Amino acid sequence: MNADVESVYYSQEQIQARVAELGRRLEEFYTDKNPIFLCVLKGGCVFFADLIRACAFPLETRFIKASSYRDGVSSSGMVDISGDAGTEIAGRHIVIVEDILDTGITLKRMRAYLEELGPASVSICVLLDKKERRVETVDADYIGFSCDNLFFVGYGLDYAEKYRNLPYVGVLKPEIYS
Ligand code: PRP
Repeated sequence: MNADVESVYYSQEQIQARVAELGRRLEEFYTDKNPIFLCVLKGGCVFFADLIRACAFPLETRFIKASSYRDGVSSSGMVDISGDAGTEIAGRHIVIVEDILDTGITLKRMRAYLEELGPASVSICVLLDKKERRVETVDADYIGFSCDNLFFVGYGLDYAEKYRNLPYVGVLKPEIYS
């Protein structure tokens, strides 16, 4: 285990099992729809890479960057969106794939941005749903784990751009960020 991590919260095995289940659930609705799976960078990249391989049906991929302005830990409410996901969205089924739904500021903004482009549908798939922290009204349609309000890193989640490559989701030691 990484020395900055207090405990492993969701192991690599638990995550893989849950991702496989999500793939099967997504198949129930999307199997004949050739959806666009939209990876929200950077945090969503690891989950996205595993999720698309757990989906045994035709799909396309796109990548978009969302940057929320933070003081290291909490969001300021401002979100910048950039990338090429805005092209050829009209009439398509979109699945937004994110690592974490926290305050909901990022995904509320992202969903509104996409809905203006005339998609057939937009759904949200997140690995972690931290409901306790919600500020905006936004729910995920597909959830890996409903989680506690702890400082998680790994499996795409960072602190100061570190730890994204850990194969598990762990709790960061408080002395690292305080
Ligand atoms: C993280 C995460 C989500 C967002 C969730 O991204 O990947 O996009 O925060 O928080 P919210 O629900 O409070 O908006 P971050 O801005 O840290 O960028 P990153 O994905 O590049 O790490």
